[in-house]
Amino acid sequence: MPQSKIAVAYSGGLDTSVMVKWLSEKFDAEIITVTGNLGQISELEGLEEKAAKSGAVKSIIKDLRHEFVTEYVWKALKAGALYEGTYPLATAIGRPLLAKLLAEAAVEEGAEFVSHGCTGKGNDQVRFEVAVQTLAPHLSIIAPLRFWEFKSREDEIDYAIANNIPVKVTKDSPYSIDENVWGIAIECGVLEDPTVAPPEDAYQITTNPKYAPDEAETITINFEQGIPYGLNNELIGPVELLEKLNIIGGKHGIGRMDMIENRVVGIKSREIYEAPAAIILHKAHHELEKLIMDKESFRYKQEVSNKVANLIYDGLWFSPLFDSLTAFVDSTQKNLTGEVKLELYKGNVTVLSRNSVFSLYNMNLATYTSADTFDHKASEGFIKIYGLPYKTMSEIKLKNVGVL
Ligand code: ARG
Repeated sequence: MPQSKIAVAYSGGLDTSVMVKWLSEKFDAEIITVTGNLGQISELEGLEEKAAKSGAVKSIIKDLRHEFVTEYVWKALKAGALYEGTYPLATAIGRPLLAKLLAEAAVEEGAEFVSHGCTGKGNDQVRFEVAVQTLAPHLSIIAPLRFWEFKSREDEIDYAIANNIPVKVTKDSPYSIDENVWGIAIECGVLEDPTVAPPEDAYQITTNPKYAPDEAETITINFEQGIPYGLNNELIGPVELLEKLNIIGGKHGIGRMDMIENRVVGIKSREIYEAPAAIILHKAHHELEKLIMDKESFRYKQEVSNKVANLIYDGLWFSPLFDSLTAFVDSTQKNLTGEVKLELYKGNVTVLSRNSVFSLYNMNLATYTSADTFDHKASEGFIKIYGLPYKTMSEIKLKNVGVL
């Protein structure tokens, strides 16, 4: 009889397949694999069988797409969370939910250990483990990739073959790819050299903007309280909206990013991302905020966006500050209802128009025509007092050098 039970975060790839067998032997353990569907393109079919062949006694596979979009992605969108100004955080947003699923499964199954296949130099180990520690502090975490004997993919393949673990015989991609419905992250291979432009085969879901259609496409996104609910004025479900925008945007070459980023563990890494839906929705959402939010809230929220992005990236999704900032963000979104019309063309998203019943844009105040109602004379006194500290300063300065 095995001594212990381990719940393993399982993708069906080489690392986690080898892990199942390896853990069961090293820890004399019963293995339960746990997989969350966040909208990854790779096959989830046949995963249970694959896990069983690798030695798992049970597989839990859960479709988390709806929860992922409504409880995780929308929070990041409303917050305007783009890490270091660029990355929409697809992987970083997915980890806390997968960690939650893993912790819940472990508790339900009476496992005292959880295990994941993250490497020892990435962000994902931090996100997984901080989330598990927070949600279920009594669980112990095993991260085999930090200490097992395999030094290369070939070592793992040898082990897999010797142990009848099913491995794909097809030549694997030279890249490490992580994907969900909010976006794809691609690293390794030639991408490790930041002086080299990403080869075309690195991109998975977007057309090269150069070869994108010559006809532009116009779309409208409808928002209610900061959440997109309609495409071209028609209701659409959250998962379907992202799937559709990934296809439409991908076709027009939208959402490619090539980025050097600062990892939690202190190193800089180069990663490319594809996130057509995320880039389109962030653009539309931000545009609506420009129209609707008052000046001070808008300016303050820019700082909050940055902080929220850092918290998500750094693995602190389940933290009091994240909750507090989310509450702030939600309160800024009460009037964020309206629609934004966008043009998609060869890698660019251009705003064509924006509209809302809560718009603070007042044509009579803004116009330079005779319809103008702005009190120009009031500007004189305003500027006198507004600039007074600086005028006073300069008067003193000039007096002290004897000019005045
Ligand atoms: N750099 C991204 C992050 O830390 C993605 C990490 C996973 N990337 C990958 N290609 N497996 O969020």
